[in-house]
Amino acid sequence: MNAKEEKIIRLNEVGSTNDYAKARRGEGVPFTVVARRQTGGRGTKGRSFSSEEGGAYLSKLSFYESFPAKDAFQIMIGAAVAVCETVKEYGVTPVIKWPNDIFVNGKKICGILIENTFSGQWIASSVVGIGLNVCNCLPEALREIGTTLKEECGKEVCLEEVIEKLLLELSLPRSVEEYRAYLGYVGERISLLIGDKRVPATLLCVDEQGRLCVEIEGEKAVFSAAEVTLR
Ligand code: BTN
Repeated sequence: MNAKEEKIIRLNEVGSTNDYAKARRGEGVPFTVVARRQTGGRGTKGRSFSSEEGGAYLSKLSFYESFPAKDAFQIMIGAAVAVCETVKEYGVTPVIKWPNDIFVNGKKICGILIENTFSGQWIASSVVGIGLNVCNCLPEALREIGTTLKEECGKEVCLEEVIEKLLLELSLPRSVEEYRAYLGYVGERISLLIGDKRVPATLLCVDEQGRLCVEIEGEKAVFSAAEVTLR
């Protein structure tokens, strides 16, 4: 393994690859952990993430020397664009549902969960967790809203090949322009959940800090992912 090559840990089963990576963060060594299945896969906002065998479940642990916290969205850009580039290689058209979901044909194919640690104004480390539905069988309750790469391709897909492509794509530098090129619903009417209020808006763009820029009743407004949910 040369200095550029990252350590890959492969597990048959784990609670959550993000939790595994976080538990070993103290060792100070970057790695990516890939699991065949997760028994306690986690999503954003405390949700669970279905993780049956056949999907790609991985977490990449990275450490930084001087990464300003204000640029944290760069990490999401890297992950979301890597997933889009990977699935695009299979002839499907992905869109990013801001900030961290990837959709194909109106159904979710991938979720991303990023967990950072901070040291003052700096990001000290990050765990980028990616759950990509490849040829896993989705639970009944998710079949209306979720999809898999196999379903979208209409043919068998090699999980190992998808994981290899994704790992490679994750190692490449990305720009906000690339993220914007995949951003879905631009110019479309959307519904924002602000607290418990649903607010109709038009999606304009995502800024460099990862905030959603919208128009509400003719007025421009900007929201962070902590402030609103895109419906
Ligand atoms: C979401 O859809 O809200 C985010 C889902 C993130 C799931 C991935 S699977 C690998 C990693 N381990 C976890 O427990 N979660 C992430």
